[in-house]
Amino acid sequence: MNIDGHHYRTIWLADDGWTVEIIDQTRLPHVFAVERLQNVEDAARAIEIMQVRGAPLIGAAAAYGVCVGIRNDPSDETLAAVVRRLGETRPTASNLFWALKKMFEALEPLAAGERVRAAYELAAQICDEDVETCRLIGVHGAKLISDLAKPDGAPVNVLTHCNAGWLATVDWGTALSPVYHAHNDGVAVHVWVDETRPRNQGASLTAFELARHGVPHTIICDNAGGHLMQQGKVDLCIVGTDRTAANGDVANKIGTYLKALAAHDNNVPFYVALPGSTIDWSLSDGAQIPIEERGEDEVLKMSGRLPDGAVALVEIANEGSPAANPAFDVTPARLVSGLITERGVCDASLQGLSELYPNYSKTR
Ligand code: MRU
Repeated sequence: MNIDGHHYRTIWLADDGWTVEIIDQTRLPHVFAVERLQNVEDAARAIEIMQVRGAPLIGAAAAYGVCVGIRNDPSDETLAAVVRRLGETRPTASNLFWALKKMFEALEPLAAGERVRAAYELAAQICDEDVETCRLIGVHGAKLISDLAKPDGAPVNVLTHCNAGWLATVDWGTALSPVYHAHNDGVAVHVWVDETRPRNQGASLTAFELARHGVPHTIICDNAGGHLMQQGKVDLCIVGTDRTAANGDVANKIGTYLKALAAHDNNVPFYVALPGSTIDWSLSDGAQIPIEERGEDEVLKMSGRLPDGAVALVEIANEGSPAANPAFDVTPARLVSGLITERGVCDASLQGLSELYPNYSKTR
């Protein structure tokens, strides 16, 4: 993706060849800042405080976290400790555990002296594959949008929740990749951007990237989607997912389920976009997906830019009131019109997923 004419991925290696650099997403949209990760604690903290977030990017950051974590000590003990530490950062995204397993299984059989080079090569490969995977999700999903193109040239209205764009992946995004592809193909498209409380990934990140790419969009408060659907102002919904169970149930940012219910009630197609690495074949349904509980401050406080340009955190709730902050919810497969993957679009069901991923489904 381009920012002010410069092509960025969300994670890359610095000129020294080993330091990992990321865009600090906690500072967007007001400040574009690059953060350096040089040890496992840097990487783990970046994932925990959501400087990097979004399931595929969490996986890529964990892979590079292993690289910086074992760089000075590639022993068996350190490799195991680094993988354990990174695995404790965020519980819901499958891609985190998928990437750590891939790294551990590739590195553990090697002699210690060979591990660092191999780790950097594999992390780079995971990133490159994520870019291609997300590009293909866009190619397959764009057809769903172009099929809804209107003869009068009015835009196809897509509603999305949270940020499942290029900032949530290494490039392109999952839910937004079809939007970018359709827009690049000349299809008129407009995106309703759910603000996505409590962290506001929609208002701050999705809006940021859509604006940079020139895609028409409108930020709405989280409660507006149902009303817009009743008014016929939403043609389809596309969201991402952090973990998809084998039966097609999907966990995604808190509030996704309510949008799926509203879409179902209004006959609005509701699609979920994901790479294969997000499917957890070991879980037969979404009730088994671990849901992250985050701190109450994310609900009780909000950050924003003051008139003097300074960014500040302000209290927005009654002093002393407690808050609960479940970060994800599960949308049952019956509310999902289809899953958009790098291998094509399928039914949200074990059969649908098995047809696209026959070898993986056998591992169940
Ligand atoms: O808490 P976040 O910001 O990491 O949550 C992100 C989401 O919910 C995304 O929709 C999901 O990771 C899919 S990303 C392509």
